[in-house]
Amino acid sequence: MNILILGVNGFIGHHLVNRILKEKKDWIVYGMDLGSDRLGNALHNPQFHFLEGDIGINKEWIELQVKRSDVVIPLVAIATPKMYVEDPIAVYNLDFEMNVNIIKQCVKYHKRVVFPSTSEVYGASSDPEFKEDESYLVVGPINKERWIYSCCKQLMDRVIYGYGTRGHLEFTLFRPFNWVGPRLDSLYAAKEGSSRVVTQFIAELLMGRPINLVDGGMQKRCFTYVDDGISALMEILENKNDICKNQIINIGNPENECSVKELADILKKLFMKHPDHVNDKTYSEIINISAEKFYGKGYQDIYTRKPSIEKARKLLNWEPKIGLEESMRLTLNSFLEENKDASI
Ligand code: UGA
Repeated sequence: MNILILGVNGFIGHHLVNRILKEKKDWIVYGMDLGSDRLGNALHNPQFHFLEGDIGINKEWIELQVKRSDVVIPLVAIATPKMYVEDPIAVYNLDFEMNVNIIKQCVKYHKRVVFPSTSEVYGASSDPEFKEDESYLVVGPINKERWIYSCCKQLMDRVIYGYGTRGHLEFTLFRPFNWVGPRLDSLYAAKEGSSRVVTQFIAELLMGRPINLVDGGMQKRCFTYVDDGISALMEILENKNDICKNQIINIGNPENECSVKELADILKKLFMKHPDHVNDKTYSEIINISAEKFYGKGYQDIYTRKPSIEKARKLLNWEPKIGLEESMRLTLNSFLEENKDASI
């Protein structure tokens, strides 16, 4: 199988390529990204062909690769809430416009697309568990610019679905629910306060700065360890008996639900017990901050976000295995290890 991964150096991309190279000797991956710092040894593997490039610029290369590939996985996107409120137009340009062009090429060459939708499309749905083919997708008013990402992804989902159900391409949409793990976001982005919550809290602990609980931290997420997520994605790529054809599939771990406050407590406890930090003199305090102060006026939060994974279980014969505390331990340890070489 020839696979094209755009955004291969990103969080999901580099974990996916590593797993493919480890487990599938007859899959060839073509990958593109702006940088390659997360790709390590993969770059020397003959099954992997990498181009340093930009989806807005290297259009001919992309078209050639789309044409020769069996599956296209467009992972390029801005996925950090701080950016949604700071630069919604950049989010629209990259997450919608650039990606829809890739989808049009997949239509042109009748390709299979495995596309990252997001847990964010469910928005503020009041369902206790979000179901792919039933839940309403609920977003706030236009002046709450946080929803630009959710809307861009939702429209991508609808465009892909429309093409797919009319036979112009074959698709699987997967919806990650707060995947975490090594190299989630860069610690440098976290230094500026603009990364997702787990990296942000780890960076604060490392720098001894306060951990901020937005509006008290009662909002909940289901954190999913990246290895579990990638296992589901591998089943989607395998697509035995075409089982994932034109399906939308949540990939999350409902057992790992916790509040942001509980998350802060777990990470702080793990940090304080870590051999490199057990003797630190002081540790970050955990404080409250208003959403407006932290993100600005355009923010609105999502208070519960729990996936139904019935469909993933049934179609993929998959079950997430890694619990909450273990997910956080593995993620924290990897960031601490990485930070030994290049201190933030
Ligand atoms: C994320 C992002 O939109 C995407 O990465 C992704 O598509 C999706 O959800 C997902 O991974 O499923 P969210 O979970 O809101 O959205 O993003 P985080 O930045 O990780 O924030 C989680 C919660 O922690 C939010 O309630 C936020 O307000 C809170 N938070 C964040 C804090 O309390 N303190 C911080 O320092 C950072």
